Amino acid sequence: MADDVGGNGTAAPAEAVARAAALRDELNRAGYRYYVLQAPEISDAEYDVRMRELQALEDEYPALASPDSPTQRVGAPPAPEFAEVVHPVPLLSLGNVFDKESFKAWHDRVLRFLEIDSFQMVCEPKVDGLAVALTYENGVLVRGATRGDGERGEDVTANLRTIRTVPLRLAGGEVPPRVEIRGEVFFPASAFERFNEEREAEGLPTYVNPRNAASGALRQLDSHETAKRPLDLFVYAIGHGEGQLPETQWDALQLLGAWGCRTNPWNRTAETVEEVLGHFEAARSERATLDYGVDGVVVNVNRFDYQRRLGQTAREPRWATAYKFPAEQAQTRLLRIEINVGRTGTLNPYAELEPVVVGGVTVSSATLHNESVVAEKDVREGDLVIVQRAGDVIPQVVGPAPGNVRGSDSKPFSIPDTCPACSELVVRSEDDAAVRCVNARCPTQFERLLGHFACRAAMDIEGLGSKLAVALTRSELVGDVADVFSLGERRDDLLELEGMAEKSVDNLLTAIEAAKGRSLARLLFGLGIRHVGSEVAELLAGRLGSLKAIEEASLEQMTAIDGVGPRIAESVRAWLDRPANRELIGKLRAAGVDPREAPAAPSDSLPLAGKRFVVTGRLESMSRSEAQARIKEQG
Ligand code: IVH
Repeated sequence: MADDVGGNGTAAPAEAVARAAALRDELNRAGYRYYVLQAPEISDAEYDVRMRELQALEDEYPALASPDSPTQRVGAPPAPEFAEVVHPVPLLSLGNVFDKESFKAWHDRVLRFLEIDSFQMVCEPKVDGLAVALTYENGVLVRGATRGDGERGEDVTANLRTIRTVPLRLAGGEVPPRVEIRGEVFFPASAFERFNEEREAEGLPTYVNPRNAASGALRQLDSHETAKRPLDLFVYAIGHGEGQLPETQWDALQLLGAWGCRTNPWNRTAETVEEVLGHFEAARSERATLDYGVDGVVVNVNRFDYQRRLGQTAREPRWATAYKFPAEQAQTRLLRIEINVGRTGTLNPYAELEPVVVGGVTVSSATLHNESVVAEKDVREGDLVIVQRAGDVIPQVVGPAPGNVRGSDSKPFSIPDTCPACSELVVRSEDDAAVRCVNARCPTQFERLLGHFACRAAMDIEGLGSKLAVALTRSELVGDVADVFSLGERRDDLLELEGMAEKSVDNLLTAIEAAKGRSLARLLFGLGIRHVGSEVAELLAGRLGSLKAIEEASLEQMTAIDGVGPRIAESVRAWLDRPANRELIGKLRAAGVDPREAPAAPSDSLPLAGKRFVVTGRLESMSRSEAQARIKEQG
């Protein structure tokens, strides 16, 4: 047993190795009975005695503490940051339907696509939490990752190990050599309110809803912190695996259960649209009795061979859809209409509300989008209004409540002529109903932009969050985004900022250095040019390749890129035509921020690009819709 070496360098004796293995198995099984089946076999006291014995053995011979040991659930040493995980198979999102008609339309599309008359479905509660992917090698949990953007997530293995319903080792003889299991981590509703109260008492910020609390818990750098929070998990899919795997979603769920994973006990099959509608109504009425948020029913095509044939569109599978519950509504008083200054200078009105519980969440503000939306909804300060929340969508003000009575001082809302942040005159644009502050030096606008520039999807500067963005702007350490890269020369000033110490300043400066190497797409997105979201930024960066090429690109060159229309091209041009922005690019370059990408091969390098196809008649191996989808994928 050369591996099992004790802390003092002595190998663990064979009987210690065997005893630890037996204790591990017994404790893992007891945990499964207790947490997953909720039918314990041994008493808590017995459990504790065995746990202490195992802990003592592992303290004596640390090499005995294998990753599947139940002692590993208490937490691992804090990590400086999460490692990035590239998902071998992306975690897709789901399309939505909101009513019978659109559900029926989804069902019809599947029938037509497959040219069949009926198919079995599996209905599952859509648990409102965070998707995670758990990788098991030879049955042992080796990695757990968040969904992230679907392509890349974060390695949160140590944190996931603290969740009692996450099997550290899969049960059952027949476990594939490698398998990825997917599920939803959630924060139990019953624990949420208490948890927030405790945080408030400790002077810590509270979470707006259980989902955010789950996300916060899962993204703790110190897993001892995660261990203190009552996270839980339902698994819903085998992401991918080696070896013999089931042929249907239903069988996959059964197998997951046999492996010791917790699947949702509500899951059920359906043969027809009507049956799904029945299940949907049942889920809706049971929803309030569950200890976790459910925002609809996920309907899957059961057979995997059908799933494979159906395939997916850009981000969503054709073989499943989320049938969402209708919005929940409540009445409350609209106290004030305030204005937010966005990073592109738009002035966005929002409602401050008398706090009200809607669908299990306390709502105290809601966006009102823009002036014309406020006018259309016909809401005013002081009104009694209807507020609604639909699933993960942010709360909305629907309109005045039926019994609303207005006083004589009630007046319609309008956005002032000057920016509430910098007092400069605002500009009203005709094409999109927006009112904008166009002052390039508006401090609030810049605070937002700076936060955006540093965010994960853009330059990813760890430690530069919205709070620090505000502090850097107000202390005038940063006047434009390029200034970020010369903060190294302002060490002493940084140390003066609230909450900054030697270590956090070091970390920040390291993160800033690392950000110099970010891709052109990230930089472009980070600059906050109107209409240039991350996808458009990728298109521009991929085809033009450098800041210089973008500066020189004509409108025609930009609109020649598939996915870039005149509105986008003109916005980029207008941004570049402002001398201050040209200067900014010069400053970025001087600071060493000048990313280049090898211009990508245009999409017409795909094998079928430029060709025309007519799909007609009856095909032998696939349906016509399927053939069309395949042809499109090939360019
Ligand atoms: S199936 C191809 N089943 O919903 C995607 N998802 O909108 C397959 N979710 O990211 C997802 N409960 O986080 C599926 N029973 C369930 C689910 C579920 C919750 C979440 C999951 C996913 C999101 C998709």
